[in-house]
Amino acid sequence: MRVVLAGASGTLGTALLPMLMAAGHEVLALTRSERRAARLAAAGVPSLRADLLDADALLAALDGHTADAVIHQATAISGPPMFHRDLYATDDLRERGTANLLRAAAEIGARRFLTQSFFLGYGYRDHGAEPLDEDRPFGEPTGHRAVDRHLRSMRSNEEQVLGARGVDGIALRYGMFYGPEPSTRRLADLARRRLLPVPRSGGVTAPIHIHDAATATMAALERGRAGQAYNVVDDQPVCFADYVRALAAAAGAPEPLAVPGRLLAVLPYLHLLMVTTSIRLSNAKAARELGWRPAYPSHREGLRAAFDCEWSRERAA
Ligand SMILES: NC(=O)c1ccc[n+]([C@@H]2O[C@H](COP(=O)([O-])OP(=O)(O)OC[C@H]3O[C@@H](n4cnc5c(N)ncnc54)[C@H](OP(=O)(O)O)[C@@H]3O)[C@@H](O)[C@H]2O)c1
Repeated sequence: MRVVLAGASGTLGTALLPMLMAAGHEVLALTRSERRAARLAAAGVPSLRADLLDADALLAALDGHTADAVIHQATAISGPPMFHRDLYATDDLRERGTANLLRAAAEIGARRFLTQSFFLGYGYRDHGAEPLDEDRPFGEPTGHRAVDRHLRSMRSNEEQVLGARGVDGIALRYGMFYGPEPSTRRLADLARRRLLPVPRSGGVTAPIHIHDAATATMAALERGRAGQAYNVVDDQPVCFADYVRALAAAAGAPEPLAVPGRLLAVLPYLHLLMVTTSIRLSNAKAARELGWRPAYPSHREGLRAAFDCEWSRERAA
């Protein structure tokens, strides 16, 4: 397939690109940056300069091109989000960015469109012990203004893509990314400096190793059903405090300090993520329909592998 990849230089794009190329797909990357375009070119990936939020410039950049599929992996989260404002640019990419890219996809004749969605579209709250499947309500408003802004953009992203005419739209509801990637490195660095506390009574979250997020995306590109959303999480939910402890141990950092959860309230988004939200997700639909299984069934194997890989890189440097 000829695939246009928005967000090719990002966390997931970086893991996805070599898989797309190894499978024989012809990739055309989108990037806003000259420097990133040069890096992509050095890896043998042609790119176009385009901003998803500038509809006219995006259409102009793609003018004369054709593609079979478009993949939207553009987000704008520069690191672990602490405040609600850290997500506004990503909210915009999920609403206007998706609309613009869908329009461009139609112009270049794409028949398939995959979009990055997010597991917390089910809501930032305690969902109880039962794993959620894809039929649960997604992106429903809660009455909390800051949270609803994120939820509205996640719902809009999915509604636009899953309801698009003339294109097979698929949404991938990724869990929390970790692995050899920037947020995990940043958290490890904080843990090594004893600046990453764990809440004493934290919530439960659903991680996904970045490699497994990319293999699920490949499977969805090839076998995903039109109009469907898929949960892309590993097999085991984890209490946030245990996740941070496992990350610190894998990174060779000291045992993190346990603090009362309310102390994290000064970082409202992080507090919502680490303390308020408890969520377990079923990945059975992705297993059944995409034939996908995670290589790292839990964060334990995934974090060990991620830091073994970091250490061998450091030793080689
Ligand atoms: N599910 C999750 O847990 C999740 C999801 C997303 C991100 N994150 C975390 O957040 C951190 C940052 O990741 P990230 O992928 O957002 O950042 P990133 O690695 O900087 O990548 C963002 C990507 O989106 C593209 N992009 C951003 N704004 C764009 C625009 N207006 N038009 C076109 N392309 C645009 C960027 O392209 P150019 O800069 O090349 O133009 C880049 O390829 C990571 O460590 C990751 O773990 C987590």
